[in-house]
Amino acid sequence: MRRKVLLDEADASTEGTAVKNAPSSDSSPTPLAPPHPQRRLVQMHRENPAEVRRELIAGLSAAPAITSPKFLYDSLGSRLFEAITELPEYYPTRTEAEIFDVHATAMAQVIGPVGTLIDLGAGNCAKALRLIPSLRPARYVAVDISIDFLEHAIASVQRKYPALEVTGVGLDFSSTLQLPPDLVRGRPVFFYPGSSIGNFTPAAAQSFLAGIQRQAAGGGLLIGVDLVKAIEQLEPAYDDALGVTAAFNLNLLRHLNRLIGSDFDPRDWRHVAFFNREASRIEMHLEARRALVVRWPEGERRFDSGERMHTENSCKYSVDGFAALLKSAGFEHTRCWVDANAWFAVFWAQA
Ligand code: AVI
Repeated sequence: MRRKVLLDEADASTEGTAVKNAPSSDSSPTPLAPPHPQRRLVQMHRENPAEVRRELIAGLSAAPAITSPKFLYDSLGSRLFEAITELPEYYPTRTEAEIFDVHATAMAQVIGPVGTLIDLGAGNCAKALRLIPSLRPARYVAVDISIDFLEHAIASVQRKYPALEVTGVGLDFSSTLQLPPDLVRGRPVFFYPGSSIGNFTPAAAQSFLAGIQRQAAGGGLLIGVDLVKAIEQLEPAYDDALGVTAAFNLNLLRHLNRLIGSDFDPRDWRHVAFFNREASRIEMHLEARRALVVRWPEGERRFDSGERMHTENSCKYSVDGFAALLKSAGFEHTRCWVDANAWFAVFWAQA
């Protein structure tokens, strides 16, 4: 895996630091914050555009057409997802936050001392910020596909906790999670909130968890998991009244147009989301409103009216089912906290 240290703040030139510290909306000449010796950013493997293109075209040409959910997250997609988390119908984010608020002290007792807290999919680091006061790690490693987003987020973590060693790692860990060993010091605790594990198939989730287990020796994993529940709660969470989730799904088409030069017109497509009980997952699809042909520079794909492209799975687990998955990935001594409705669970699993 290619690895490049983009900016070690301790070594940054004044010019580099000026750019990194300048608030984008403020044009007045404010004094620059001094470089912080405890903060750095590391960019790991970046995706190869030719490979991305090949993967997307293979998926578009398949029957039925399919795309990886990671393509939902261009910059607009990430902002739409943030908006989703504020919708009344989308219960996972606020339910998980409630569990952390109520049980943070008990979690800290069960987890024990934390050398390095490794936050997978850290985003704006808001979830870790809720836990840092209870877990009191010596080091915090925020991992996210977008290093640009992380830069600002880890700077604000650093401002809140000046003694904490903070590192941001730009890495698409959905395919491989291999952190450089020098990033982790002391007892490692991986943190994977938000029920993103549900966006893997159960088989892929098992191998992803096994990969974490191998790197968490002596420590463990704290993970948020969405639970199976009544269809009346599940389906509106993925098909909200304002149409924010529909926009999130349809925005994928604009992202694909930029990535492969295709000519998708979002107006020709409809957002579809439903609970597949047999597979215990919400499925998101885009459905053609009419027969159409989508073209890109070296190819095309015909879609019949009503034909679908599968864009995301969001698997829902039972407490026992997820405990068994953790066990099969090599973890032991699992503990779990759930909310009063048993809609969401947070698991601690010792590696
Ligand atoms: C990121 N992930 C956990 C979300 C979910 O609930 O599966 C993505 C999402 N898709 C539609 N709404 C939210």
